[in-house]
Amino acid sequence: MPLESRLFVKTSVIALVLTFAWGAVMAIGESMGHPVAPIWAVEHAHLAFVGWLVNLVVGIALWMLPLARGTYPQTQGRYPRALPYVAYGCLNVGLVMRIVSEPYVAQSGIAAAALGTSAVLQLSAIALFAAVAWVRTRPPSRPAAGVR
Ligand code: HEM
Repeated sequence: MPLESRLFVKTSVIALVLTFAWGAVMAIGESMGHPVAPIWAVEHAHLAFVGWLVNLVVGIALWMLPLARGTYPQTQGRYPRALPYVAYGCLNVGLVMRIVSEPYVAQSGIAAAALGTSAVLQLSAIALFAAVAWVRTRPPSRPAAGVR
């Protein structure tokens, strides 16, 4: 598995552990009569879905989708060399910025600016991934008999 995919997948595992720890703290707090503000459940959900699921899906897809050797000859058909690193940075910096800024968005202009920036970063990350996934989702170039 290439380094770029390992980066996404290991990050996803860390996010999964943090999501469970965060969920456990919220559940234990609730069970003891100390529920957290609903916004922290929203941030827990973002850590789960973006931090765990999206990182996992992107990391595996960049590795496993059919290669496009003609389009990306530098990396034996995977992607432009820097693309996964840029996407990784945009996705995960954007995620952390969202988690730390959103709870304070009503009180702070800096938090509001950070939340807006995080949205642009995460959208950019997924646009980069989508561009590669689109090209690499293709039929076989020389299909064997009976293979589609
Ligand atoms: C990958 C695993 C998980 C996913 C995808 C996930 C997803 C979610 C989602 C979507 C919400 C609702 C957020 C909202 O209100 O907007 C939530 C809330 C919550 N989750 Fe998780 N969760 C995960 C793991 C866990 C675990 C392991 C625990 C506990 C050990 C946990 C405890 C909680 C608690 C206490 C809430 C707040 C419930 C409430 O009071 O409304 N979660 N989670």
